[in-house]
Amino acid sequence: MTAIENYLTEHRERFISELCEYLRFPSVSAQPKHAGDLRNCAEWIAAHGRSIGLEAEVNPTGGSPIVLMKTPRSPGSRKPHFLVYGHYDVQPPEPLELWKSPPFEPRIDGDALFARGSSDNKGQHFAHLKAVEAYFRTGTELPCDLTFLIEGEEEVGCTHLGPFLKARKKDLRCDAIVISDTGIPSPKHPALTYALRGIVAMEVTLHGPDRDLHSGIFGGSVDNPAMVLCQMLAQLRNAKGKIQIPGFYDDVLKLSAFERKQVARLPFNERAERRFLGVPALFGESGYTCAEQRSARPTCEINGLTSGYQGDGSKTIIPSWARAKLTFRLVANQNPAKVVRQVTARLKALCPPTVRMEIEPGHGGAPYQIEPTSPLAQASLRALKKAFGCEPVLLREGGSIPIVNEFRRLLGVDSLLLGLALPDANAHSPNEQMSLSIFDKGMRMSALLWPEMSAALK
Ligand code: BES
Ligand code: ZN
Repeated sequence: MTAIENYLTEHRERFISELCEYLRFPSVSAQPKHAGDLRNCAEWIAAHGRSIGLEAEVNPTGGSPIVLMKTPRSPGSRKPHFLVYGHYDVQPPEPLELWKSPPFEPRIDGDALFARGSSDNKGQHFAHLKAVEAYFRTGTELPCDLTFLIEGEEEVGCTHLGPFLKARKKDLRCDAIVISDTGIPSPKHPALTYALRGIVAMEVTLHGPDRDLHSGIFGGSVDNPAMVLCQMLAQLRNAKGKIQIPGFYDDVLKLSAFERKQVARLPFNERAERRFLGVPALFGESGYTCAEQRSARPTCEINGLTSGYQGDGSKTIIPSWARAKLTFRLVANQNPAKVVRQVTARLKALCPPTVRMEIEPGHGGAPYQIEPTSPLAQASLRALKKAFGCEPVLLREGGSIPIVNEFRRLLGVDSLLLGLALPDANAHSPNEQMSLSIFDKGMRMSALLWPEMSAALK
């Protein structure tokens, strides 16, 4: 390991400038205008993999390409095989005016590397690639075969990855999957995330008059779709944070006493959190701590709300339509399809006859959980401890990585979630950043992971 350690130290500056190059692609999967940037970004990371010594292929799909990169296999190799998953697509950077520097012009300030995608997720999987480079360049033998699967549709629901996994099932058969696309509570709390929330997304549109109407001439006699939508949505959750949808909580599993204890170990300061988020007060379902609300309880969120006139000044109209983008975060044992049915039934019951409602279901994924006591999970904890120099914590997290369920279903293996994003990473927000010292630790964690995990399989 000393040779690898030295290599990682010696080449650090180059790694960072390569990562900056990667971050310059505006690979925004939600926006069709960036399709070309996604393709170029995929080509770039594949070429980069080849320059390290990996065998790389860029697989076209109906959407963004899927990049596979493999360590060269020795004939008849019986080594363990691990798959590293990551995504090169990023969330939209808007609103741009809130960025201190442009989202696709990486900027370093002290320990922070600012750019859209720095933490979510280019910086995180890049750390794994650099660890492999260190193995190759120092002539250190890897105790396992590795495949990197880097896709470009994670932020929009992984539409094409499921079918790809099915088609390439044989090739991708492996002992476990490693994903660095989650968080850590602090540099002193490296973490294995053993649970993720699931998600369902939907769009609700209310249609009123067949065009915008003069609100003076018609107001009072025709219903206002924006008003109706607000009234309907307001009834999906009460003031105490409880979701008001019949049957919604039926399948929700309670946290065990052990889990509540684990969560309580995490650092949390309410005042600092309020300041960090810029809110006058925190809000959440009563009876649960903040960490519990964020990870072990389901939610109902309005992600976007559009209707009527949005330009300068005023315009006196009754809008013709109103639309909301909604997502629900789910926890074990909620079922996404069942939740879609429950929400749809509730919206139908709330919708008055004065408007016509259209509901378009979006992407979805079930909640996920692994057994943190498994030999591979324990091996990953040892690598975390060595790399970070302190005792790792076990986390449940609130975000979703829906493809982990497909990995389990199609490849029959668990995903170890070893995230590298600090709480102030600003994922999905303006001024996203990656801590470079955590990037350093991440490369070391990755290098240590492969011997630990390979040994755990023997
Ligand atoms: N990296 C996140 C997932 C994540 C974030 C997990 C924080 C745990 C903690 C991932 O890139 C992401 O944002 N996923 C989406 C999935 C959705 C679009 C289906 C999410 O959680 O919103
Ligand atoms: Zn994300």
